[in-house]
Amino acid sequence: MRTVYVDAGPMAHLSGKGPLKGHSLLDAEALVSPKGMGLVVFEERIEAISHSEELIAEYGAPNDQLSSDSEIKVISLNGNAIIPGLVDSHTHLLWAGDRSRELSWRHSGKSYREISEMGGGIQDTVRATAAASDEELLKLGYSRMRSALRTGTTHMEVKSGYGLTTESELRLIEIASQLKGMEHLPSMDLTWLGAHDTPHGMNTEQYVEQILSEQLPKVIEQGHARSADVFCEPGWFNVEQSEDILKSSRDGGLDLRIHIDEFVDGGGGELAAELNVTTADHAFHSSADARRKMDAAQVNTGFLPGTPYALGTEWPEFNQMIDDKLTWSIATDFNPNCKTLSLPFMGSLLSQRCSVHPLASLVAATRNPAETTPHSSGQVHGRLEVGAVANFNVVGAPYWEAWCLQPSHTPFASTCISGKLIHH
Ligand code: NIG
Ligand code: FE
Repeated sequence: MRTVYVDAGPMAHLSGKGPLKGHSLLDAEALVSPKGMGLVVFEERIEAISHSEELIAEYGAPNDQLSSDSEIKVISLNGNAIIPGLVDSHTHLLWAGDRSRELSWRHSGKSYREISEMGGGIQDTVRATAAASDEELLKLGYSRMRSALRTGTTHMEVKSGYGLTTESELRLIEIASQLKGMEHLPSMDLTWLGAHDTPHGMNTEQYVEQILSEQLPKVIEQGHARSADVFCEPGWFNVEQSEDILKSSRDGGLDLRIHIDEFVDGGGGELAAELNVTTADHAFHSSADARRKMDAAQVNTGFLPGTPYALGTEWPEFNQMIDDKLTWSIATDFNPNCKTLSLPFMGSLLSQRCSVHPLASLVAATRNPAETTPHSSGQVHGRLEVGAVANFNVVGAPYWEAWCLQPSHTPFASTCISGKLIHH
């Protein structure tokens, strides 16, 4: 089946090789085509991108019954702008329970650490997740992924990490893998985050030992996770422990990601650079020197603006990253503390709150995270070009800038995912 989309408004194709950095993030002339373009989708891929008139001459006009052949459908986008499918490169998708009471605790001055000592935090979610059935978790994951798709996410990274025993981590990865490849859901890149916290009844040294001797080998044997991640932060996993886990993970064939410097500069940036991890996320408190080292080591900085939003802390200097020509992306960090899967909302935070140009915010939610979070087909995604996966969003507006201007609901009229059009 071939579908031809014509009469697009401006097309933010963002095409080109590799991640974008520096002021090229703002280059609308290079990254956006003026209105009037169209594209041809054949099966799951973009087969051609061309002027609408040329496509109409070849395939017929939209709804032109006379020239239409059942194997070809021509659809008018009625001047609506299009942008690539959004790529959420950092989510904690699978967990049960509810931590809403922590908001009141935060308002009475409790820190993240104190809340976790009061019985909240990751451990609270671990307990609730253990009590949930596989079916409940599968349903939660399904409805969350549907909600991500509604706000334009066509591909997402999903971490385990609310199990913290060998068995429960394998269970979460197994459930996530059942959601992988389900129709009408974003596609998935799976990450094992066994080192998210230390389970009760053990100290961190003992847990790291258990991870290295038992949990990690079993995760590798299970074969679903493509990457490993560690919560490298003073009070959780220190630099040495993170290094041991990540090095063994790499030896076992896993790609590496890391949580660093969320609350303080704990030296995780230097480790990320030394290990050439794919992406180092949060990074709110990383020093300028660590940021430069990471970039020199081709480590992406993954900002998670939903976390400072939810916790009421400071925003990082996104525009400094542009001026310093460093590679960065944004993601939702969906978790029990930050319950949004909307990348348009992240775009709004950047562009309506932190003075980031909307084109830079868009690249940070598409082309750049696609580099760290590959599509399982092995094809290009996160940008619109011939041969790429046919993942794109039709904005319900004649301007691409509208992608981040409706943070409370979806800005998209429809989303094409692996060649299938879904109306919202
Ligand atoms: O990335 N910081 C570590 N992990 C999650 C949050 C975990 C939680 O609070 O449940 C994050 O923000
Ligand atoms: Fe996270």
